[in-house]
Amino acid sequence: GQPRGQGRPSSSGAAVQRAPEAASPGEAGEDAEVNTRKKTFAEVQTERLEQAERTVLIKCPPKLNEKKLLQYLSSHGNIKSHFFFENWGIHALIEFSEKNSIASLQDAIGVPSAAEYHVVPFKSRLFNFMLKNPVSQAAEETLLHLSPQSHIPVKELIEKLCHADSISSQMYILLNEYQLTDENIKLRYLVCSLVQDFARAYFPDSTVKPFGSSVNTFGKLGCDVDMFLDFRDTQKHAAKMKKGPFDMEYQMKRLPSERLATQKILSVIGDCLDNFGPGCVSVQKILNARCPLVKFSHQPTGFQCDLSVSNSIAIKSSELLYIYGCLDSRVRALVFSVRCWARVHGLTNSTPGTWITNFSLTMMVMFFLQQRSPPIIPTLDQLKELADQKDKLVIGGYDCSFVSDLSKIKCTNNTETLDVLLGDFFEYYGNFDFRRNSINLRKGKEVNKPESSPLYIWNPFEQDLNISKNVNQPQLEKFVAMARESAWILRKEEKAQQMVNKQPWGLAALLIPFGKSNSNKMKNRMKGIGSETIRNLLDSLKLNNPNNLQKAVGK
Ligand code: GTP
Ligand code: MG
Repeated sequence: GQPRGQGRPSSSGAAVQRAPEAASPGEAGEDAEVNTRKKTFAEVQTERLEQAERTVLIKCPPKLNEKKLLQYLSSHGNIKSHFFFENWGIHALIEFSEKNSIASLQDAIGVPSAAEYHVVPFKSRLFNFMLKNPVSQAAEETLLHLSPQSHIPVKELIEKLCHADSISSQMYILLNEYQLTDENIKLRYLVCSLVQDFARAYFPDSTVKPFGSSVNTFGKLGCDVDMFLDFRDTQKHAAKMKKGPFDMEYQMKRLPSERLATQKILSVIGDCLDNFGPGCVSVQKILNARCPLVKFSHQPTGFQCDLSVSNSIAIKSSELLYIYGCLDSRVRALVFSVRCWARVHGLTNSTPGTWITNFSLTMMVMFFLQQRSPPIIPTLDQLKELADQKDKLVIGGYDCSFVSDLSKIKCTNNTETLDVLLGDFFEYYGNFDFRRNSINLRKGKEVNKPESSPLYIWNPFEQDLNISKNVNQPQLEKFVAMARESAWILRKEEKAQQMVNKQPWGLAALLIPFGKSNSNKMKNRMKGIGSETIRNLLDSLKLNNPNNLQKAVGK
């Protein structure tokens, strides 16, 4: 999903991508990712944000001549790239080479003359393109290539997976079908850039940047756009002014807390989007949440958006995951499979609640990959050791430094296949001692739980916080039960037989709700998982002979 083929050739010791073990060429997008040096997180963001500022979105009539549209727009400047997509009608994303082409275009176009409605005179970079003479012009229509902005339904995915020749290939097929495309990433940055136009009406130095799964390499088509309003660039500028014998500063309104300032800023921008934002609908201000935010739906792109104010820890988490996602192609393949699996079985849910979040689940996969021998990804402490001066960062008293240059991270010697990793992931968490131990990515090892939350995953940057505090005991038990069931299915190794019978096998078998296919068998294996007595019994078995436990729960 992240930009491909833009890296420099790798120097020695660079984080070289392993070639995806693809089912067939082209299926898994191996091409340019092999032997290229990935950009740093900051480089990608800067480049994409700049690109978005040179971009407009045009709603087009259903019948259209692509060449003529491009010719028409070219009179305002060179078009660097473009694509079409369908979202309640055809839209074209047009990226100009120069930002000032947009001003030229904006000067040349009119405002709607709606008789029934009054239009709010806010001019954005969203336009309507119309044919003056639809009947004769429609005759010149050309077949448009539409870039898909959503992934195929799970049912269709399962069918595709059945034709693969290994679990590993299945996992790369899933990754390829679900990951964000370059086009979709452009749209995500465009939405941020459009919101930034509003923010800059009040705060000319502010920027709006995406974070979370839109940028951490683990986003799937259809996931929300998390964005934050950033004033950090303003502060950098202020530092420059302090030279010399005098000191000057802005007069600014003072508020008793940062939270209050955040709420006020978000409230105003929320109102602004609601009242004047073309295509911004269902704007909800959720200002009393732990992390205040404005939710809205952006109709022209179809994205559900969450706008918050700069949260340095969340950005660092996104960058950390970006690094892990870039280090080895197995990382993303495993995360996508596990996330899809969790969604199918109702372990994750798009609404907040007592279930595991995608964020926590991703951290669990990272932790598992740190436990391999040799480890597939480094611990956060190891990444911190590689940090140089410019990577140094302390937030709220916590040292959040880690290396940003991917080429400094040594490539792993671990050559395990994804077939092994997927099965072992389920075995590992199916047998994890959640009652005693917690997951710590900084140290890369299991440590005693500091408090009694059912699932404890250390926030990598604020070491006294648990990112999965919301998860309750029944949800954790459901996760463990599903993990055990999945490990069992993968261990059966009846692939050949299942292929002959045209039954889903491997990853495909894991993406079918278990109750539907083999509910009785499953019930037997699940018996007693919620019961404290039997769990204690299993624990004592585990102490006497570690193999016994697996026998007791696995078969
Ligand atoms: P999707 O489910 O694909 O949207 O994944 P996501 O990673 O974008 O998750 P989400 O939209 O829920 O949250 C966006 C970002 O906020 C995450 O990537 C994290 O950086 C941060 N975040 C979310 N939940 C937590 C949490 O419980 N603790 C902390 N520290 N950060 C969180
Ligand atoms: Mg998100």
